[in-house]
Amino acid sequence: MRKKIIAANWKMNMTVNEADSFLDTFLLEVSEENRLDMVIIPPFTAIPRVSERLNKVQNVKVGAQNLSAEKGGAFTGEISASMLRELFVRNVIIGHSERRALYGETDAIVNKKMHTALEASLKPILCVGETLTQRDAGKVEEVLETQLKGSLAGLTAKELHETVIAYEPVWAIGTGRTASPAQAQVAHAFIRKVIEAISDHSTADKIRIQYGGSVKPDNTEALMSQPDIDGALVGGASLDPRAFSEIVKHTCKLLD
Ligand code: PGA
Repeated sequence: MRKKIIAANWKMNMTVNEADSFLDTFLLEVSEENRLDMVIIPPFTAIPRVSERLNKVQNVKVGAQNLSAEKGGAFTGEISASMLRELFVRNVIIGHSERRALYGETDAIVNKKMHTALEASLKPILCVGETLTQRDAGKVEEVLETQLKGSLAGLTAKELHETVIAYEPVWAIGTGRTASPAQAQVAHAFIRKVIEAISDHSTADKIRIQYGGSVKPDNTEALMSQPDIDGALVGGASLDPRAFSEIVKHTCKLLD
């Protein structure tokens, strides 16, 4: 059984004060929950505070939204893997579609970041997903396969075990338009097949694949009950502590 993982991608939202009041509510709501992994992924500036608070609760971890592919040096404005480790960051999102589309991150850059993160013992959440144009052109599998092979090149089976994949169809991110559970399941099963091809059956069976793209409390159960969906990467709905804890609770219902 793969343990489900629900993560909050706050993107460029939440000041330190706002993060604090989010945690005041959220941590109370989920204090009893140990059956799944929960990760809060704030902007860099709120990581120290969130990390300090989560250190006391054990059942929720802290993540980062990005990292530099470089280890250190003259890279103005960048944040290194060791700087994140120092703040007890556990997971790091790599290759989010917003970074690919707005900041020119190619599969080669994403791959370099994967290696940098794993060498520093950070656990990557690798995002892949097609645009609407690519879906309409019947290219979903081709796009996913290219992104996965490029982004995961040179990783060992052990490193793949440390990795979470997030399937995030670009057309479903922040649009309110979710992939149907069936559409998502097909993509997730395909991703697992690609992992098997580049690694082995046991690795493909163990790797966790999250769905992301307009996950809300009312569509959580249908998505999370699909056999190859192992969690959610939540943007918009993760900014509201009640909505995000509802998403956690709806997922837990499936574990009862
Ligand atoms: P959304 O974002 O839930 O707002 O669609 C998901 C993501 O981009 O990770």
